[in-house]
Amino acid sequence: MKTITIANQKGGVAKTTTALCIANGLQEVGYNVLMIDLDPQCNTTTTYQAQTEDTNTLYDLLHKKCTVQESIQKTESGDIIAGDKNLAGIEGEFASQLKNYSLLKKALEEVSDQYDFTIIDTPPNIGFYMTSALIASDGVVIPIKAEKFAIDGLAQIVSNIKDAQEAANEKLKIYGVLLTVYDKRTALDAIVHDQLPEIGEKEGFRVFDTSIRVCQQVKEAQSRQVRLFDEYPNCNAAVDYANLIKELLQEVKKG
Ligand SMILES: Nc1ncnc2c1ncn2[C@@H]1O[C@H](COP(=O)(O)OP(=O)(O)O)[C@@H](O)[C@H]1O
Ligand SMILES: [Mg+2]
Repeated sequence: MKTITIANQKGGVAKTTTALCIANGLQEVGYNVLMIDLDPQCNTTTTYQAQTEDTNTLYDLLHKKCTVQESIQKTESGDIIAGDKNLAGIEGEFASQLKNYSLLKKALEEVSDQYDFTIIDTPPNIGFYMTSALIASDGVVIPIKAEKFAIDGLAQIVSNIKDAQEAANEKLKIYGVLLTVYDKRTALDAIVHDQLPEIGEKEGFRVFDTSIRVCQQVKEAQSRQVRLFDEYPNCNAAVDYANLIKELLQEVKKG
């Protein structure tokens, strides 16, 4: 099993969209995928139409009130360990004990025979949940939007990943930085698109050749709670995410 975290401490950069499309896309090509929603906002959980009440969520798993198996919900979109709004309230309590940072990693080891991939969606901050995800993962995909301070923010997340590598997870890789909601007609987008590979070379991170184009159907799929690949398989974003998955699989294979 390979575990891939989608992370950026900024909100609205298409983390959740990317997590969903990567999970769906990997399922389409025949892989068994487990989704984990570490964001207390639970957007991925909602899209999977998974339950958060009267069922075991990530909250119960971290509190050892259930086994990993018992925390997995099987939905039409696939298997998921649901997020929980209560996760926000326990972050401080969990963060104060070092051993808690490897709870997620240990949980995933128990189901590693069952899945080819685990995809982790993370909240928009650097804290206990993101760090737990980095410790549990083989690699990270970092979505960014071409915004004024996007590049500055990138330095911070990259440095965080390097810290996790040094302190707890030597094998952790940056599979790539992914430019999302990309509109080549916009000057800033075009500049970021063109300069990103060079910045990556200097700062020590890879940039995906694929960018995800801005695409109205992403929002439509989201509001109708349908899968982009099912409903709009030929839209720009679906085509781009399909290419991303090919590129990602090559990176994963490199080990
Ligand atoms: N390729 C795209 N084209 C247009 N809108 C997009 C695209 N990707 C994401 N979005 C929209 O951007 C917003 C933020 O995306 P989301 O995946 O929720 O980001 P995050 O999880 O980083 O907060 C959502 O409204 C989503 O529909
Ligand atoms: Mg999100």
